[in-house]
Parts: sequence; C-alpha cells; structure tokens
Amino acid sequence: MNRLRELQQRRNLDCRDQWLSYAEHRHQVMQQLAKSAGGRLCILGAGNCNDIDLASLLAAFNEVHLVDLDATALADGVARQSVEDERLHAYGDVEVTGVWELLEQVAADGLEVTRADLLAQSLADAPALPMPGPFDCVVSLCLLSQLIDAVSEACGRDDSRVNDLVLKARDQHLRLLAELTTQGGTSVLVSDFVSSDTCPELLTIPSSDLPRAAQQALATGNFFTGLNPAAIASRIAKDPTMFERFGHPRIAAPWRWRLGDRMFAVFAMHWSRQSNSAPDC
Ligand SMILES: C[S@@+](CC[C@H](N)C(=O)[O-])C[C@H]1O[C@@H](n2cnc3c(N)ncnc32)[C@H](O)[C@@H]1O
Repeated sequence: MNRLRELQQRRNLDCRDQWLSYAEHRHQVMQQLAKSAGGRLCILGAGNCNDIDLASLLAAFNEVHLVDLDATALADGVARQSVEDERLHAYGDVEVTGVWELLEQVAADGLEVTRADLLAQSLADAPALPMPGPFDCVVSLCLLSQLIDAVSEACGRDDSRVNDLVLKARDQHLRLLAELTTQGGTSVLVSDFVSSDTCPELLTIPSSDLPRAAQQALATGNFFTGLNPAAIASRIAKDPTMFERFGHPRIAAPWRWRLGDRMFAVFAMHWSRQSNSAPDC
C-alpha cells in the first residue's frame, strides 16, 4: 500500500543525476530565493536538491531547513553537494499533507463516499510538521504539482470528485505555507504549470518568447489542473482569512525547466506574510 510513495521515489531516482541539465532552472530558482535572503529559510520538496545550490543558500541565509517525503533522495542530494554546515538541517521522511496514508488507502481500495468525506475534512487544516518554524522564508519547490498529481492518481483522474479534492489540497498547501512563514516573512510558491507534452513550442522558442507562450497556454486552458497562477491569486483574494495572511502576490516572469526530453514552464509567486495585528498609529 505504498504506491504513491514509491511513485515519488521512482521519479526522484529518475532525476537524481540531472544536476547539469537543471542548470538554467536552478539559476532561476536561486534568483527567486535571493529576493528574500537573510534569516531562516525552509524549502518544502527539496528532494534531490538539483534545483538549489546549498553553499550559496548557506551564504545568503542564516539557516537552511530542507524537507521531503523521500529521505534517501534528500540525504543523497545533500551529500552530492558536499556541504557540511551545522546551519543546514534536513528533514527526510516528512510528509506535508497529513493525508498520505488515507490517499494510499484510496489508491489501493478506491474512493468510497466515507473516504471522500474524510479526505475533504482532513484537508481542511494544515498538519503540524516537525520543523522548528516559523521561518522568514518558506518555499514550496515544484511540490504542489506532485501533491495534486497524488490526489488525482489516488482518486482516479476521471472521478467527478477529483477537482474539488485537488482544490482543497491546493488550499491546504497554501495555508501550510502561510502557517510556516513568520509575520513579515515571505512565502514563495514555485511550480511547473505546463509541459512540452501539450505545449511543444516550449522545446524550441527563444526565451524572449516564453512570456507570450505561457500567457497563451494559460489563456487557452493548457495548464496542469489547479496550477494557473492567476487562479491561485484570485482564490486567495476571495477568501478573507487567506487574503488577510497573504495579500496580493508578486508573480515572476516564467522560465523553463528541462527534465530529460520534456520541458516544463515554471512560475514563482511571492507573498509577504501580513501581520495579523493593526499597525500602531
Ligand atoms: C519535482 S520534485 C522537486 C524537485 C527537487 N527539488 C529536485 O531538485 O529534484 C518534488 C519533490 O516533492 C517531494 N514530495 C512529493 N510529495 C510529497 C509530500 N506529500 N510530502 C513531502 N514531500 C513530497 C518528492 O519526494 C520530490 O522530492
């Protein structure tokens, strides 16, 4: 009953030696993180660590906390960068939704009504995680697409309840980012949103054409379910509790991430975690 965990581990194994082909993606991710340098950084979905340069992160932040479900990928990823620093903390075997066992049951035995209800209820709150938060900067690093994929894979992609559960999983992940981020700190959502499977021009267009291609893909509904950045911003704006914490995001220009023969388009959204108290004036 570990189908979803094994799927993540297999994907990580397939990508573990792609440090070189990740160069452009890593450069872009590091530029996004540089915008919030200083203080304590937490990265969710660090996995193989091919998209982060640990030495540079340790130079830019006081502490770096790496989190992933796949303990082996994380330990090997850190070891490959030969960085030893007591300010670097790795939390392998940490699952960020709290519903993974339930999802594994659904994947094995199907989505009965009671399980669908339980899943929806369990996704209402973000789980307590073992890292010593809150952090000045919290980054979800190409993790949300994996969470959404796990929900779809477990429930069956054609099940009519999947869309609702996917959106609940997305909301839960956004709440987790907010809860892990200290007031006045920054939450960053980095996510792939379309691939060359459905947008083949990602493989050939010059970088200068990427914003247009990304805009066109989004405008024509050609993106991964739940991963339209404008829809995420609008979802937050419509929920008073989330909006109070997040406010409006800054959305960075998209970039490309090569994964073997496939190319992904990636966005980054940055939120300044709002203070809950009114200013003293
Ligand atoms: C696409 S990878 C991110 C890329 C990774 N930073 C790298 O350099 O290879 C997504 C990561 O999220 C992790 N992950 C997936 N589902 C998770 C969950 N529910 N809890 C924690 N980590 C999860 C996977 O193990 C994987 O390492």
